[in-house]
Amino acid sequence: MLNMVLFGPPGSGKGTQAENIIAKYSLVHLSTGDMLRAEISAKTELGLEAKALMDKGQLVPDEVVIGMIEHKLDGNKEAKGFVFDGFPRTVKQAEALDALLEAHNAPIKVVLSMVVGEEELTRRILNRGKTSGRADDQDESIVKNRVAEYRNKTEPLARYYAAQGKLKEVKGEAPVDEVFGALSAEIDLVK
Ligand code: AP5
Ligand code: MG
Repeated sequence: MLNMVLFGPPGSGKGTQAENIIAKYSLVHLSTGDMLRAEISAKTELGLEAKALMDKGQLVPDEVVIGMIEHKLDGNKEAKGFVFDGFPRTVKQAEALDALLEAHNAPIKVVLSMVVGEEELTRRILNRGKTSGRADDQDESIVKNRVAEYRNKTEPLARYYAAQGKLKEVKGEAPVDEVFGALSAEIDLVK
């Protein structure tokens, strides 16, 4: 199985590139942000609880997203591989993912880290906020909270994956096609 993590701060292009990657390599896209927004749209209890945190730019509890991912892995047994987008976001989530994938004997092959500066992230997110309808895209102070959560809780994961020899960095400020080319080159080395 070709399993990979798309890693990077809010607005770095994870969702954009995940779509390109699943189309090229016939994989399944698993975005915890998209799953949570689907829960919000369906007005479930989980969605309502998550929305209160997401609208402030804070992470939702580990147990919630780990449970959602477990469910999706069980529901996609025929998949050729998964592109994890926005998950894992804490060391606890990464350990849970490793354990789940070990049970399927299908470890993460590569962690693709997209490096984008804070000014560009903020510009992209506020620009998308004009049309996305996402409350967390519309206010610069919420964007700052999202970036702070990333720096405090998610960035330390880079060391976790570097220690496993899986972390590959690409420049995320280039045009979408160029970034995709750089990501594809890394994927081709492990596939
Ligand atoms: P989530 O939905 O995962 O959002 P995010 O990671 O904060 O960031 P985005 O999805 O906005 O950015 P992206 O990297 O996907 O970039 P995109 O391709 O969209 O999470 C939302 C919230 O859910 C979290 O804050 C948290 O509360 C909760 N959550 C989710 N997962 C969780 C977890 N595992 N644990 C706990 N809580 C969790 O691109 C952004 C914009 O830039 C787009 O407009 C795009 O067109 C543009 N763009 C992309 N690439 C380029 C480029 N190369 N050049 C120019 N523009 C570009
Ligand atoms: Mg996204």
